[in-house]
Amino acid sequence: MTTAQRHESWLLFSSRPALWVLLRAGRWTGPVRRVPRVGWLVADPVLARRALGDHRNTSVLGEGGVGHLWAQVLGDWVTDLFDGSGHAALRARVRDVFTEASARAHVDRVLTPTLAAATATLRSGAELDVADLARVLTGRLVADLLGLPDTTDEQARTRFGTAERLASLALGTGASTHLDPATVATARELVATLTAGVAEGWAHAGEDRLLGRCRALGLGRRETEGLAVLMAVAGTGTAASAMARTVALVADTGSAGRLVAEPGLVPDAVREGLRVSTPAPVVGRHVTGDIALGSARLRAGDRLLVLTHTVDNAAGGFDLDRPYDPATRQLWFGAGRHQCLGSALAKAVLAALLRALIATGEPWRVTGRRAARRVLVPAYAELRIVTA
Ligand code: HEM
Repeated sequence: MTTAQRHESWLLFSSRPALWVLLRAGRWTGPVRRVPRVGWLVADPVLARRALGDHRNTSVLGEGGVGHLWAQVLGDWVTDLFDGSGHAALRARVRDVFTEASARAHVDRVLTPTLAAATATLRSGAELDVADLARVLTGRLVADLLGLPDTTDEQARTRFGTAERLASLALGTGASTHLDPATVATARELVATLTAGVAEGWAHAGEDRLLGRCRALGLGRRETEGLAVLMAVAGTGTAASAMARTVALVADTGSAGRLVAEPGLVPDAVREGLRVSTPAPVVGRHVTGDIALGSARLRAGDRLLVLTHTVDNAAGGFDLDRPYDPATRQLWFGAGRHQCLGSALAKAVLAALLRALIATGEPWRVTGRRAARRVLVPAYAELRIVTA
């Protein structure tokens, strides 16, 4: 195991010990295996894609799927929006909102001053906590998407914390996605805080902003609120985790000098960082109809867990020279009709962060790190770096 792999393994174990065990087990269980009380584990790229693409027989709704959690918090109306005809209509409508060009423009508009300050900190010889920076960056992005007028770093941290607390309520749903009433009540309060600016933004924002665009595209206020909450939860912890872990992976593999010398490798660093970190390490589904998956026969009512982290890491450690792998493709963003809506934004923010570090003209090294604990997405709580 390389130094970089040891750090990643330690991070996963510290953040979520049970998840670490599950992902490691996936290395030995074979392509698909039933584990009592957990469900079917899928650890093969072809079968993973087939399961996630089988919309007839698998669903995000029902026990084991993320939509099941949301329906309990937001109400049954999300059912159609999450996996019914409403979902297809929503994805078709918002497709042009989530392009690479719009993601880059969004990142430039919202994050440029924060990133410039980070470059200046490193240039001055001071330490930079990239984990904190990542929380501020994602907090700012999400606040902007949700029409909230956050201006300070502290507000961005608070916004990040609210989204992370909401996401973390899913912890402990490994065996069942049924939530108890107290958890549902807490979740609803957090949702109300996060969506406080959506109604106003939906009614009045210009069409260059997400909420204004949603209105112009014919989405109702409630659908827009649902989409907003989903983005806040799906896009904060994951993106922040990927950012700090990619910065650490570049340093831990001794690749920072090369990236500084060859900035054209940034897209490769982004792809490899996402592959190795795979911030959504498991993607769950409820089985709604009998399916043959490899040698296994899954029955309606079963749960399945695609071990994306295990599958993505089978190729080996972070390597700037590793080519795009057509087998995994972008499995770190899921597959099928629920494939990540914010993937362009996630890649744009990760690339912008690496460019801000490269702008110092010096490679960076890690001077200290601490893992976050009891979080849904394994992440650094602190990752201090300096330039050499
Ligand atoms: C590195 C960062 C990210 C990773 C690794 C990631 C990963 C994923 C994965 C694996 C899924 C599929 C879940 C499933 O099939 O059950 C997903 C869905 C989704 N993601 Fe991301 N995501 C990231 C960032 C973002 C961002 C920045 C946003 C938006 C601001 C976002 C919005 C969404 C939404 C709305 C969905 C649900 C799509 C649907 O059900 O049709 N994600 N993401």
